[in-house]
Amino acid sequence: MRRAARASAPGKVIIVGEHFVVRGSLAIVAAIGRRLRVTVRSGGKGIVLESSMLGRHSAPLPGQGAAAKVSPVLEPYIAVLRSLAARGYSVVPHTILVESGIPPRAGLGSSAASMVAYALSYSAMHGDPLSAEDLYSVAMEGEKIAHGKPSGVDVTIAVRGGVLAYRRGENPVDIRPGLTGVTLLVADTGVERRTRDVVEHVLSIADALGEASTYIYRAADLIAREALHAIEKGDAERLGLIMNAAQGLLSSLGASSLEIETLVYRMRSAGALGAKLTGAGWGGCVIGLFKEGEVERGLESVVESSSQAFTASIAEEGARLEEF
Ligand code: MEV
Repeated sequence: MRRAARASAPGKVIIVGEHFVVRGSLAIVAAIGRRLRVTVRSGGKGIVLESSMLGRHSAPLPGQGAAAKVSPVLEPYIAVLRSLAARGYSVVPHTILVESGIPPRAGLGSSAASMVAYALSYSAMHGDPLSAEDLYSVAMEGEKIAHGKPSGVDVTIAVRGGVLAYRRGENPVDIRPGLTGVTLLVADTGVERRTRDVVEHVLSIADALGEASTYIYRAADLIAREALHAIEKGDAERLGLIMNAAQGLLSSLGASSLEIETLVYRMRSAGALGAKLTGAGWGGCVIGLFKEGEVERGLESVVESSSQAFTASIAEEGARLEEF
């Protein structure tokens, strides 16, 4: 076994299909050039997590010590560790150092990237890095603790990178975008929320709407298929229209908020071809599709209402081991 190993995974934006993907609709998701890096170092006592964003947390190794109350921040990591142990990796005391360029609880896939990068670095420290398939299964154990009912879209994109058409239970399909001359602007409302709370709320509204909600889900699925064609054909105007329609459907199931709508309408009035929430909603981030010449205007338009805004580049590479 090596003394330490390091791995990273990308964040993501869901272009269309969040929430609907939980119940089997299609989602289109892209990995972005912001990554989260995890260094695992053996030694010390139990498990210690150090992160500039999440603070310092420690816990006994699973199965050792009294059943102490574990910090909720560490619980998903412990679920990943248990899953690794079930696959034959020995459980040793270690420190997990998380360095991230992805804001947490903002809909950009920070928790999935951390589960994936942790599982990859821990397995690599044992000299046997997980395959992409196993990485998905192990990281999903952590995501279930963090998210409740994850569709798997966040973990899949963190493992694979690129742009994917994702439907729960099916093999994801790589998309070759044909879009040129456009940029995706990401603006953070600065409002943090837990994905599991929003997912539960949206599902409860869908259930309360009964049969009517099946039409909303069906429309979301058709919209995502249209988005896939528009992205492949390079039809940015049509993709923008689809993003706006997707925002309406998400809003109809209670995923939006005043902060999100403010950013959406600011972007649209600054010339966005389309703008919508990305990720779970309520807070977190909004994405806007801009012609390259107009993205500066878009950035200016959101300054007052967002905690941070940036243009997102697509990351071809998914999870990877890092030298250090
Ligand atoms: C969160 O990034 C996406 C959701 O659809 C939840 C999920 O798919 O697991 C809201």
